[in-house]
Amino acid sequence: MVWTKEQRYRRIEEASREELSKLRLEVRSCEWRQTFHIQPETGLLNDPNGFSYFNGEYHLFYQWFPLGPVHGLKYWYHTKSKDLVHWENVGIGIKPSNQYDSHGAYSGSAIEHKGKLHLLYTGNTRDENWIRHPYQCLAILEKTGVIEKWGQPVIHDVPKGYTDHFRDPKVWKKDNHFYAVIGAQRENNTGCIVLYRSEDLLSWNFEGELQTSLPSFGYMWECPDYFELQEQGVLVFSPQGLTPNGDEFQNIYQSGYILGEPLDLKSRTLTHGSFQELDRGFDFYAPQTMTDPDGRRILVGWMGLPEIDYPSDKNGWAHCLTLPRELSIRGGKLIQQPVKELKELRKQLYVIRDVIFDEKKSYEHFNGTSYEMVCEFENFDADAFGVEFRAGEQEKTVVKYDTAQNKVVLDRTNSGEAVGEAYGTERKCLVEGSKIKFHLFVDISSVEIFINDGEEVFTSRIFPDAESKEIRFFAEGGRAVFQASKWDI
Ligand code: FRU
Repeated sequence: MVWTKEQRYRRIEEASREELSKLRLEVRSCEWRQTFHIQPETGLLNDPNGFSYFNGEYHLFYQWFPLGPVHGLKYWYHTKSKDLVHWENVGIGIKPSNQYDSHGAYSGSAIEHKGKLHLLYTGNTRDENWIRHPYQCLAILEKTGVIEKWGQPVIHDVPKGYTDHFRDPKVWKKDNHFYAVIGAQRENNTGCIVLYRSEDLLSWNFEGELQTSLPSFGYMWECPDYFELQEQGVLVFSPQGLTPNGDEFQNIYQSGYILGEPLDLKSRTLTHGSFQELDRGFDFYAPQTMTDPDGRRILVGWMGLPEIDYPSDKNGWAHCLTLPRELSIRGGKLIQQPVKELKELRKQLYVIRDVIFDEKKSYEHFNGTSYEMVCEFENFDADAFGVEFRAGEQEKTVVKYDTAQNKVVLDRTNSGEAVGEAYGTERKCLVEGSKIKFHLFVDISSVEIFINDGEEVFTSRIFPDAESKEIRFFAEGGRAVFQASKWDI
């Protein structure tokens, strides 16, 4: 179905009750609804927004177009949780409603100030000639749960030298000042990030551009996030327009980080190493982080990408968020581990230990459509070894280690209904070690695979048949010793 501009920019209030309940039924009947991931009740979900801890709960909003699986008029949808595992759907958080956000309440972030959660977001507007003007806007969540917009944008204009691709404010506080980074495009069509400063979150001063050693790295940098961890500075962003390079940058758009010395706020300089991708899978974009009361830095991403059709579209919905991951730094690299609270989801445990030699084997209880599984391989001399999961007669998703290349490979060539095939059906990355650990979270239509305790992560949607439930362990051209623990979820 081709969506016209009128259909994309319809407000939820314009849809009749019948239309909405029909859409809800279509969504509910979809065979690919997830069981332990945040997903929209209807329509399209994209970026995580306003991820924060406030008033005793985690809050996580997301970009939402309610009326179908397309990027239309965006709302902020509000969810909250006491444990980062069980999320409650609260309802619409921010509606596009006035001349400053008429064409969408775009991405942004949250910070607590004076006992209220301040939500800073981009108001997207278009004039009669469809010319975009972005405003940076504020909405305030009270402890009562009420969210009210500030009457005026807090940043009215795009500074000189930048285009109307100017959005996604991420705010933090340092030494009693507030700072915000905003994703931008220079007039020469290269991407960058700019810095603002404020004393009260209401009046903001444009400080200038962040100085990085990536002066020409794609045409737009979306969803910036700056934080300090283990005394280092980390800048996360989602650059658009990079060219694939070996195993890297295979997806339509990228998400990654640069890491180095803490940002010098005066000169706005970041001294850093090379850009590294956050995730090696097929579906990951626009992540956002927060610090929780224990000081943990936690990241959630969008498990999807713009401009790609997904098989759930025909049931009126698209996308979900990733599981929350705790970040740390080891050897100049961000390490991502599923938050420990996710152990709450574990039900029955099954364990196996075996040696496989040039064969493929299945084991009792090792099957399912939603589970957590940790597989550790060692003492291997095989050319390759790994796991097939969500496997049936025709279908399988494969994660394996290629010992000649020292690469982990995720193969979704036969995962079920195809998605984004134009961008290839394999993803790979270098991983060294005499032990290889795959930690999988498999849901009805997704998999997140943490490699060697979070050195790398492969995040992907898959759309297998409900009957494709098998798990098979294999070694090719030699031996591998392994142990696997699986918990049903
Ligand atoms: C990233 C993004 C953001 C924007 C939002 C709109 O996926 O394009 O830059 O604020 O989505 O939904």
